[in-house]
Amino acid sequence: MMALAMTLHFLSVIIWVGGMFFAHMALRPAANELLEPPQRLPLMAAILGRFFSGVWVAIGLLWSSGLWVIFGFYGGMGKVAISVHLMSGIALVMTVLFMFIFFVPFPKLKQAIVSKNFPEAGSSLAVIRQVIVVNLSLGVITTVVATVGKYFW
Ligand code: HEM
Repeated sequence: MMALAMTLHFLSVIIWVGGMFFAHMALRPAANELLEPPQRLPLMAAILGRFFSGVWVAIGLLWSSGLWVIFGFYGGMGKVAISVHLMSGIALVMTVLFMFIFFVPFPKLKQAIVSKNFPEAGSSLAVIRQVIVVNLSLGVITTVVATVGKYFW
């Protein structure tokens, strides 16, 4: 059962952190280079909407598998390594930042696209991009802390 929990944990990390890497490092620069705002912004909103649905599932699986391992196999928060405390703490910040994106700038982006206000849509997308950069960095740090921490702490 622990193998199942950890498999779900890793799949969730791959979807969330890998998706942010792809969106920020590959999709965004290519779209900026090739498309004008009236084409680029609706495309980005459509892509992000689909990606965010996957992120909700990944976050649900990440927390449930992580808490399952902590309480089901290790005997509670008091028994786990510092790296697991750090992992869950940083993951909490990442989760709050994702919710901020989803409930604040993302609806503004969609609304601005419906009313064809592309400067406004561009500003909302810029906020989303900045928060995704922070979350991508935190995701990489968490992965390093979790993996390296297992061997050193
Ligand atoms: C984006 C957020 C997260 C990332 C990137 C992440 C990453 C990882 C990685 C890479 C490992 C494997 C460590 C290893 O075996 O070498 C791991 C294990 C683990 N994670 Fe996470 N994790 C995240 C969120 C969480 C959350 C929210 C919880 C629980 C509240 C959690 C609990 C655990 C536990 C209990 C283990 C097993 C540790 C062990 O067996 O030593 N993780 N995680």
